[in-house]
Amino acid sequence: MANSDGTSLWIDGAWRAAAGTFTVSNPATGEPLAEVADASRTDARAAIESAAAALPAWSATPGLERARVLRRAEALMLERATELGRTLTLEGGKPLAEARGEIAYAASFFAWFAGEAERTYGRVIPASTANKRLLALRQPVGVVGAITPWNFPAAMVTRKIGPALAAGCTVVLKPAEQTPLTALNIVALMTEAGLPPGVCNVIPTHDPGPVGTELLQHPAVRKITFTGSTEVGKYLAREAAATVKRVSLELGGHAPFIVFADADIDAAAQGAIVSKFRNAGQTCVCANRFYVHASVADAFLEALTPLVRALTVGDGTLDGVQVGPLIDTAGVQKVEAHVRDATTSGARVLVGGSRPPHLTRGNFYAPTLLDGATDTMRVMREETFGPVAPVARFESEAEVLRRANAGPFGLAAYLYTNDLSRAWRVAERLEYGIVGVNDALPSVAQAPFGGYKESGLGREGGTEGMDAFLETKYISTVIRG
Ligand code: SIN
Repeated sequence: MANSDGTSLWIDGAWRAAAGTFTVSNPATGEPLAEVADASRTDARAAIESAAAALPAWSATPGLERARVLRRAEALMLERATELGRTLTLEGGKPLAEARGEIAYAASFFAWFAGEAERTYGRVIPASTANKRLLALRQPVGVVGAITPWNFPAAMVTRKIGPALAAGCTVVLKPAEQTPLTALNIVALMTEAGLPPGVCNVIPTHDPGPVGTELLQHPAVRKITFTGSTEVGKYLAREAAATVKRVSLELGGHAPFIVFADADIDAAAQGAIVSKFRNAGQTCVCANRFYVHASVADAFLEALTPLVRALTVGDGTLDGVQVGPLIDTAGVQKVEAHVRDATTSGARVLVGGSRPPHLTRGNFYAPTLLDGATDTMRVMREETFGPVAPVARFESEAEVLRRANAGPFGLAAYLYTNDLSRAWRVAERLEYGIVGVNDALPSVAQAPFGGYKESGLGREGGTEGMDAFLETKYISTVIRG
């Protein structure tokens, strides 16, 4: 029975032990949750070989049949959202309601890419002569190495393996070491949905180095898809170049959140809460820096301050908690360093600014609102990945565009305005892959997700999400008249 284990490696349709194990802990308590099999480079090779062996049959399976498996997996995920969400909260920290929301979001990638599996059309190309027929076919790229992050332990898995499997690829998945249990739950459920052995293998490890090297060097792996830091993404792109593997990268963001003078200030403040404090500020598309027109900055802060103050921080399994812990102590220390840097450079703490005194264990940081931020502060230059909202003021559209576009990041940006012309003008000039206009939560399965500049390469979701896993083959045929 596929789901009778859940803490071993999943290779070739069976649970396998590894030479060692590592401990997964609850970030809300610091207590150990599970001992999980720790994949070695040899285990990674076995997983790749299993995926390579499963490739011919899976890629030859009709798209309509692959779609049926994905739809059954979607249904199982939704049916089990409560238990899957609980595991996600225990290992990742986000509050239960948010975790269940992530499970539904994750399932939506299976549903969307099931549809795309049914629509993987080729193209008939007009020939130059009467005796030829020209055709472009779409074919799976082959074995995919997928490396997923801890901040969305379910949705980033399905956003990668959904399109890979829909396209006819087979997969070796290395989930984040902090949150492997959700990924193992998902593969068990996919097996129940009818996924054949070897088509999706999962190899958790506490040390991504050796497993990553095998994925990068093994010639059978034709594609690497990664969500994580820009630094690691650059390393993967460099190493993948040696065997010209296809690469998709979803990397760091540092989203500007711009509030113009003509904006609906209450809507902007509500949007700021959603965008900034979702998953305690640990999403790549979180608003990281706020630019508010000087004429409405006081009104915006007046609206936002009570909303930030009212957020309940705590263990995500408890009723009413809206902001859970950060993933680890390093995450808390980074937030502390950013806030310290800002306040010593003149920013004023309106709410929070420290670890919550009533939470004596776990990786918590209080939701924090800073006024008087300037562009030289670390909070305005680097991705904080925590619950801190620094607010700076601006005077003109041209000025805020220049400030928002400065730097190497280009994942998501947000703007609030009631002027339609301004909305289009600014959205088109922002050098970002995703722009939310009066919308703090633009991510959906059917839209392309990805970054400009150093925030990434390629797109996930949408029809573009399939392209990442398909090659194009051109066939030219001479016929007799
Ligand atoms: C991410 O933070 O990488 C994903 C966020 C989303 O899908 O909205």
